[in-house]
Amino acid sequence: MFTASQLLDKINTHVSELQFVRTPKGLYEPIEYVLSLGGKRIRPVLMLMAYNLYKDDVSRIYGPATGIEVYHNYTLLHDDLMDRADIRRGKATVHKVWNDNTAILSGDAMLVLAYQYMADCPPEYLKKVMDVFSLTALEICEGQQMDMEFEQRSDVEEEEYIEMIRLKTAVLLAGSLKIGAILGGASSEDAERLYDFGVQIGVAFQLQDDLLDVYGDPAVFGKKIGGDILCNKKTYMLIKALERADKEQFAELNNWLTTETFDPEKKIGAVTAIYNQSGIKAICENKMREYYTRAMESLDAISVAEEKKKELKALMKHLMYREM
Ligand code: IPE
Ligand code: IPE
Ligand code: MG
Ligand code: MG
Ligand code: MG
Repeated sequence: MFTASQLLDKINTHVSELQFVRTPKGLYEPIEYVLSLGGKRIRPVLMLMAYNLYKDDVSRIYGPATGIEVYHNYTLLHDDLMDRADIRRGKATVHKVWNDNTAILSGDAMLVLAYQYMADCPPEYLKKVMDVFSLTALEICEGQQMDMEFEQRSDVEEEEYIEMIRLKTAVLLAGSLKIGAILGGASSEDAERLYDFGVQIGVAFQLQDDLLDVYGDPAVFGKKIGGDILCNKKTYMLIKALERADKEQFAELNNWLTTETFDPEKKIGAVTAIYNQSGIKAICENKMREYYTRAMESLDAISVAEEKKKELKALMKHLMYREM
């Protein structure tokens, strides 16, 4: 069995050796650019780890593992356009280096490439794998649409937020694990349990991403701090801050949510100050821990030797204390 960091090295090497020889260059250069910036590669690592619970020849599924990472990077190109984000992984985003149309079209090409890589899997599992992948990809569009619609609303409830992040983020971690399990020949029960595990860590993962968007170190996080505040994203933190606000704080928050012209740094500072007054960081961390604990429990139900689950548990702890 391989460690998470060994699998990360393997997938990094594999992705760095991908060659895009087709033209026009203007379509493929942005793809090479975003893939060269790395990132945590958490989704292919999860896929390889799930596979490795059952089988050792991990190189057999580099196709699908590459597919899931290329797919993830495609969502980032479009997401950065939608969120008007200028920095990712510490570098200018594709629509900034090139332009909006490039981010759309290179993104589209990446989605097609992701399907090609995904389909490069042992043929006996092709249908099952593509079914999971397609449903996951559709759900992510649904989650992203909810995320955008929520920007315009001020009455989003906790449950709606959790459902939105389950769709836009958690199902991709879950789908990665499930595809790895299917390819590894796991029972359908195990594949479902790994999927559930992925949903729980995925929800925790997005809660943490939202937290780091306010409290992270920009040099480590690699994205602009306060981006979600500027977009009026209905994060768990904002929902809780609105819930807990006194009359004055409530009026101030609503004022920032509705004012169209403002000094960005002032808005970020003011909203963060209200979060601080209400202890929102700790509230969000508690919620996150709740989901990490649930994730741990769903791992217990998987029918492989305890010894084999150790790597997934260690990776989860590592993710929980991540700063990027
Ligand atoms: C960013 O994903 C999008 C979210 C779901 C929060 P990651 O945090 O996995 O980004 P990279 O791939 O490591 O850069
Ligand atoms: C991530 O949401 C969801 C997808 C990219 C599908 P975010 O918008 O929070 O991701 P970051 O913070 O830009 O990476
Ligand atoms: Mg974004
Ligand atoms: Mg977004
Ligand atoms: Mg974010």
